[in-house]
Parts: sequence; C-alpha cells; structure tokens
Amino acid sequence: MPRHVAIIMDGNGRWAKERGYPRLMGHRAGAESVREVVRLAGEWGIEALTLYAFSTENWSRSAAEVRGLMTLLAHTLRREAKELNKNGVQLRTIGRAEALPAFVRKELKQTRDLLSNNRGVVLTLALNYGGRQEIVDAVQSALHAGEPVTEETISRHLQTAPLPDPDLMIRTSGEFRLSNFLLWQAAYTEIHVTSTNWPDFRREQFLSALLDYQRRERRFGRA
Ligand code: FPP
Repeated sequence: MPRHVAIIMDGNGRWAKERGYPRLMGHRAGAESVREVVRLAGEWGIEALTLYAFSTENWSRSAAEVRGLMTLLAHTLRREAKELNKNGVQLRTIGRAEALPAFVRKELKQTRDLLSNNRGVVLTLALNYGGRQEIVDAVQSALHAGEPVTEETISRHLQTAPLPDPDLMIRTSGEFRLSNFLLWQAAYTEIHVTSTNWPDFRREQFLSALLDYQRRERRFGRA
C-alpha cells in the first residue's frame, strides 16, 4: 500500500457540462468523491492523503464559481467534521491559507482543532497552493533561519515537511500534467492518470489506481 497518496481532482466542470448542469453541481458531486476517498484511505491503511482543492490559478475563475467553491468547502467541513473525527482523521492545509475568505479560515481552524488529537489518516488540503511558490517560500525560510540551502533543508522547510513524499499521484479526467502540484515532493512519485472525471472517481477507480501502483517497480533513479 502506498503510504502517501496525492490527488489532482480534475473534471468537475466537464462532468457537469456533460449532464447539462451548472459547474457548481460538478464540484458538489466532487465533494462526495472526497468523502468516499478519505473514508477508504482510512480503511485501507493509507497514512496520508493530499488533495489539490484550490490552486493559486483557480482565482481566475468567475467570482461566482470561486465563491461557490469556498462555500462548498466550508459547508463540507462543517457537515463532515463529526464523521472525520469518528474515523480518527487529522486535518492539515498547505498553500497560502491567509488569502482565503475569513469564513473558510474559521471553519478550517475549528475542524483542525476538533481533529487535533487524532492519529489516523493525515488529510492535507492544498488551498491557494502553488508548488513553485512553496519551494521559493521554503528556500527563503531556510535562509532566514541561517541554514545552508540543501535538498535536506529545503525539504524540511516545505509545508509538507512532516509527511513522507507521495508514493502515488492520481490525476483524474485524462490530463498528463502536474499543474504546479507538489513539484519538489513528486520527484520519484508514481503517476496514475485516469480518464474518469473526479465526481465519478469512487471505490472502484481508487482500487484500480492502487492496483496500477502495485504493478510499478519503484527504482528511485537506481538501475
Ligand atoms: C477541478 O475541476 C476541481 C476543482 C478546481 C476543485 C476541487 C474541489 C472539490 C472537489 C470540492 C470540494 C473539496 C473538498 C476538499 C471538500 P474543474 O472545475 O477544473 O473541471 P474541468 O477541468 O472539467 O473544468
């Protein structure tokens, strides 16, 4: 089993469009996939799950969509907090959370606090996250601490620092791109791309991704 799985959740808009629904309906259905994947990760013994929920580029979407996504995030956290707690999930965020609307920051803090004594799956939400920006921030933070800039110090100053690098990265809806997600951490990560849109990514698709991972021979650059 991979210890750490990262997911680029893509295709919510296309899922909605195919059905003649507004885009936000796709995000809502996508939130159900998040729920299922977090629950399964716990059942299957995956230690960490990192989800790309909002990139630094996503601010350029319409104001209504950005607002809708933020509201959905806050509502989902509130609705799921109890269940997450029951399942021992821990919550972290990466990205510049200070730029998120106050109502989202408040909900994140409340949920994080509620889950703070848990020891189960570490769920990390990447919010207002950009991989290049994270590396720049890590280098600056190392310099500020008077440390030399090395691979070890950069890794230690990244926001993902307590977590192992992802073993598996899943991208839905068929695009073969990293889209500025976990650029440093993904150096040796196995990548699984599926044509399934995120709202249709449930148990069966998660299992296929894990089976695909198990077939890979991981060499970490060695012969
Ligand atoms: C990509 O689909 C998806 C997003 C930008 C947002 C992901 C957000 C959620 C799944 C909502 C809830 C999140 C949590 C953590 C509860 P897209 O809009 O880029 O789809 P498209 O490429 O088909 O247009």
